[in-house]
Amino acid sequence: MIYETVNTMKTKILSLGIVGGGPKSWIGHVHRISARFDNRYEIVAGVFSRNPKLSISFGRNMGISKDRCYTNYKEMADKESKRNDGIQVVSIMTPPGSHQIIAEKFIDKNIHIISDKPFAGNIDQAKKLYKKIKSNKKIKYALTHNYSSYPMVREAKVLIEKGKIGKVEYVNVEYVQDWSEGIKITSKNAKKKLKWKIDNKIVGTSAVLNEIGTHAYHLATYISGLKGKQVFADIKQISNKIKMDDNAQVMINFTNGAKGMLWTSVMAKGGIYGLRIRIFGSKGSLEWVQNDPGYLKLNPSKGAVKLLERGFYNAKLSKKFSRIKFGHPEGYLDAFANIYREFSDSLRTKSKKRFFYPNEDEGLETAKFINACKISSKRKRWTKI
Ligand SMILES: NC(=O)c1ccc[n+]([C@@H]2O[C@H](COP(=O)([O-])OP(=O)(O)OC[C@H]3O[C@@H](n4cnc5c(N)ncnc54)[C@H](O)[C@@H]3O)[C@@H](O)[C@H]2O)c1
Repeated sequence: MIYETVNTMKTKILSLGIVGGGPKSWIGHVHRISARFDNRYEIVAGVFSRNPKLSISFGRNMGISKDRCYTNYKEMADKESKRNDGIQVVSIMTPPGSHQIIAEKFIDKNIHIISDKPFAGNIDQAKKLYKKIKSNKKIKYALTHNYSSYPMVREAKVLIEKGKIGKVEYVNVEYVQDWSEGIKITSKNAKKKLKWKIDNKIVGTSAVLNEIGTHAYHLATYISGLKGKQVFADIKQISNKIKMDDNAQVMINFTNGAKGMLWTSVMAKGGIYGLRIRIFGSKGSLEWVQNDPGYLKLNPSKGAVKLLERGFYNAKLSKKFSRIKFGHPEGYLDAFANIYREFSDSLRTKSKKRFFYPNEDEGLETAKFINACKISSKRKRWTKI
């Protein structure tokens, strides 16, 4: 069947399989909505939980046929790749430490990947996964660094490419959350409250950096177009008894000479999804705040501040990534769905059209950044990314 959706090309529906995102996973819900947002994908197979019974009942409740509700991802990859109507794309939304191993299994079967972040649990896994993706020319890979898919973030990226704020000199980004829910985290309640996030084998190199710092660094490099060169990081863990990284302050030197500051925390009390970024160039600055995502502040060094609005005539590019008319709020789900929409476009075209969704190159850069931060914090010195 051919569907036509707002703003985009005609496209066939892609068969999608899912790994992870089971009953209590919030992001699982976001992926499933985003995949269906523009009628580009049909979820036809999945293994949603490590618990086989839960996985099957969850899949059945979603209307997936019995023979395509699997108990583990290996079985799913093997069986789906043998079907004539097998999945074309798999979405992975398991905890970080398993992203690489799961993705590789599907890459071997020539199935395209959409994976949640971080790219991988640690730098070794990231390098292996990167190599694997590059070695198979039949597949494409998208990484859901979803904040980069807000229309006004992409508007900001292109404004910088066009030189509207001149040469980028300073970047200031912060992403803070509060995982404490107002309760003191102790050795007694840590496991119940933080689950796999206190297990290094599952969360990977650093909980705070893999879970949200990675988004902040990705956003900084995505909008500015810069590449990180060195970091000086100070990472804190909850306590000597609970060895989970919960806060990181990072100074960044970029390859063009620009300077950056990144602060990320998961224990900033009252920190309600505080993702904000300011980028300063030789001719002015840009500011974007996720809690008010439809607006981008452009502050030229001479003249009045401009407030650019998503979908309005003063922010033309943003229209391409919007569904709802300016003045009506759009948000998180719409932005997340932009990755799914563009990825389906990219699978359907052979043209050299530009796509804005994050890929494996950006994934590897974020893994290198996190690894360098850990080394820097331990050695207390500047470290090459
Ligand atoms: N992009 C974002 O904004 C965003 C937001 C939240 C979480 N995430 C990412 O999503 C991933 C999952 O986080 P979460 O909070 O949903 O975790 P979660 O623990 O709430 O859910 C993970 C789900 O995956 C299942 N699972 C684990 N291993 C599996 C396997 N091998 N096969 C099948 N199912 C498996 C679990 O049973 C569970 O249902 C993490 O990488 C996290 O960083 C991204």
